[in-house]
Amino acid sequence: MDKLNKLITDRWSPVAFDSRPVEYDTIHLLFEAARWAPSSMNAQPWRFIFATRDMPDYKVLLSLLSEQNQVWATTAPLLVLPLTQIISTYKNRPNRLAFYEAGMAVGNLLLQATHMGLLVHQASGYDVDRAKEELVIPTRYEPMAMMAIGYKGDVAQLPNDVAARETMDRTRMEISKFLVSGRCK
Ligand SMILES: Cc1cc2nc3c(=O)[nH]c(=O)nc-3n(C[C@H](O)[C@H](O)[C@H](O)COP(=O)(O)O)c2cc1C
Repeated sequence: MDKLNKLITDRWSPVAFDSRPVEYDTIHLLFEAARWAPSSMNAQPWRFIFATRDMPDYKVLLSLLSEQNQVWATTAPLLVLPLTQIISTYKNRPNRLAFYEAGMAVGNLLLQATHMGLLVHQASGYDVDRAKEELVIPTRYEPMAMMAIGYKGDVAQLPNDVAARETMDRTRMEISKFLVSGRCK
């Protein structure tokens, strides 16, 4: 682990966020990092709906999350819903790589967040249909996983079972399980 880039090893998904706001310059840098992601034909299919606590969309984004996710996301000062353009502007064709490309933009954002001492917890547990409706998302975009972003908080603010998640072992499958030589099973 110690030979890996620290931005990779230091990134993790917390459940305790401090309510301290994220400065606007810092938010700008998150999206500047996302902006520099590569994409096929430089199409840049990613879009980000963002809301800080003082913006009307904050309540909307928070309310979309499942009850379980709201428990830890509710103190996060910044919520972001990344979208990807599944129908490309070029010839109006489906973009098979839309999620791949927007995922790379999110990856950049995660590393930049880590670099600036911010934590990000992503959540696919939210009401996608209601998101499309309430945020008036055009059909050529598909929402991805919501992101709660902020600084480290105190686990004492959380119910015990949720707080316990913060100290759980973080594990991954062995490389031999996903590195394929021959045919994928
Ligand atoms: C696309 C995506 C969806 C996720 N959805 C949820 C979610 O709905 N609720 C949750 O608590 N965590 C969610 N997570 C966080 C993962 O559980 C977490 O990233 C994983 O357990 C690895 O832990 P780590 O991020 O600390 O390395 C999601 C992560 C990703 C990337």
